[in-house]
Amino acid sequence: MTTPTNDHFDTLAVHAGVHADPATGAIMTPIYQTSTFVQTDINEHKGYDYARAGNPTRTALEEALAALEGGRFGLSFASGMAAIDTVLRLVRPGERVLCGNDLYGGTFRLFDKVLADYGIVFDYVDTTDTAAVREALAAAPARLVWLETPTNPTLRLTDIAAVSSAARAAGAWVAVDNTFASPALQRPLALGADFVLHSTTKYLGGHSDVVGGAVVLNDEAAYERLKFLQKAVGAVSGPMDCFLTLRGIKTLGIRMRAHCDNGLAVAQFLEDHPAVERVFYPGLESHPQYELARRQMAGPGGMVSFTLHGGEAAARAVARRTRLFTLAESLGGVESLIELPSAMTHASVAGPEALAAGFAVDAGLVRLSVGIEHPDDLIADLQQALAGV
Ligand SMILES: Cc1ncc(COP(=O)(O)O)c(C=O)c1O
Repeated sequence: MTTPTNDHFDTLAVHAGVHADPATGAIMTPIYQTSTFVQTDINEHKGYDYARAGNPTRTALEEALAALEGGRFGLSFASGMAAIDTVLRLVRPGERVLCGNDLYGGTFRLFDKVLADYGIVFDYVDTTDTAAVREALAAAPARLVWLETPTNPTLRLTDIAAVSSAARAAGAWVAVDNTFASPALQRPLALGADFVLHSTTKYLGGHSDVVGGAVVLNDEAAYERLKFLQKAVGAVSGPMDCFLTLRGIKTLGIRMRAHCDNGLAVAQFLEDHPAVERVFYPGLESHPQYELARRQMAGPGGMVSFTLHGGEAAARAVARRTRLFTLAESLGGVESLIELPSAMTHASVAGPEALAAGFAVDAGLVRLSVGIEHPDDLIADLQQALAGV
C-alpha cells in the first residue's frame, strides 16, 4: 500500500505511514517490541540497528505525522516536552527566542527554569498582536519565534501567516505548537511556519492512554540535526506508544468534527448562562479573533475556557460538581475533562518571572476539554454543576 497523496484528510489519517507488514502481510503495523536488530555482517542490516536510533513502528508513526501536517519529515518523541526540548537544541547559547506570553505552563517552565540556565534568551510578547511581534523582532535579532495557537488556556490566536512572514524577513524560524488544533483543523507549515510541534498525548492519540510528542518540518538540514539529536539525546517514543498513537490517528478527522460540534454547543450554552461571566472559544462570534479563526482553522476545536461571576470560589465549586466532565489534567481525549489551569496545568505559570513575562492565568478560569459524548449529556452535566453558584 502506498501513502495517499490526495488532500482528503480522513483518507490520509487512515492510511498514512501504514504499510502491510513485509513479513506476514499484517494490515496493522506491528508493535516491534525489540531493542536491537540482527545484523547479517558488521553493519549489514535491514535499515534498523538499535531501537533508540529507529524502530519500524516509530517509522510508520513518523511518516503518518509528516503526511498529516503536509510536511516532508516527522519525528516522534517520548512526550510533547521532549519534542519541544529537542527543537530548542537548535538554538545556541546567547541566541534569542521570542515567545508568546500565553503558553502551556510546562513549556514556560522548560524555557524559564531549564533552558534559560544554558544561556538561551527568552523574551515574551503578545503574539496575537502581529505589530508587537514585528517590533520585538526589529528591536533585537531572534533565532526562533515560538507560538501556540490557539493558546492554552485562553484560546487566543496568532496569525501564523503574518507572523511567519515577519519572522522570515527578520531571519528567524517559526515553531507552532499545534496541539490544540491538531492537523485536522490547522496546518502551520502551509501558512509559512518552519516547525510544527505536538503533544501527541492529546488529540492525535485521542484516547488518554499514551504520552508522546512530535515535530514535523520541511527543511532537510534541520531534520538531519533533529534526527541526530533524537538519537543522541534519546527521548524516543517506545513501540507500544507509537502503535497507540497510530491507532488514534486513524479516527482523528471524525473525532475532531465531533469535538468541534460539541465544543460549539457547550460554548453557546455557557455564553447564555447567567452564572458565566466570559467564555473563551474561537467558534463564538464574541471571540475577538473569530474572523481569524475562520480563516486559519477548519473548525474551532474542542477546548473551551470560561470565568464565572462568582470568581475563583465558583470555579472551584463547578470543577468539583461535574460528573461527566472528569476533574483531570490533559485534554484531547474522547472523554470530557474539566480543570482549573491556575492550580493544575498552569501552576508553574505563577510568580514574578511569569508576571514579568506578561502571563496572567486567572484563578477563576475553568478549562474544559469537550469530548465526543452526546452534547445533551454534556450540557445537562454543566447545567447541574452551575446551578446556584
Ligand atoms: C499545548 C501543549 N503543548 C505541549 C504539552 C506538553 O506535552 P506532554 O504532556 O505530552 O509532554 C502540553 C501538555 O499539556 C500542551 O497542552
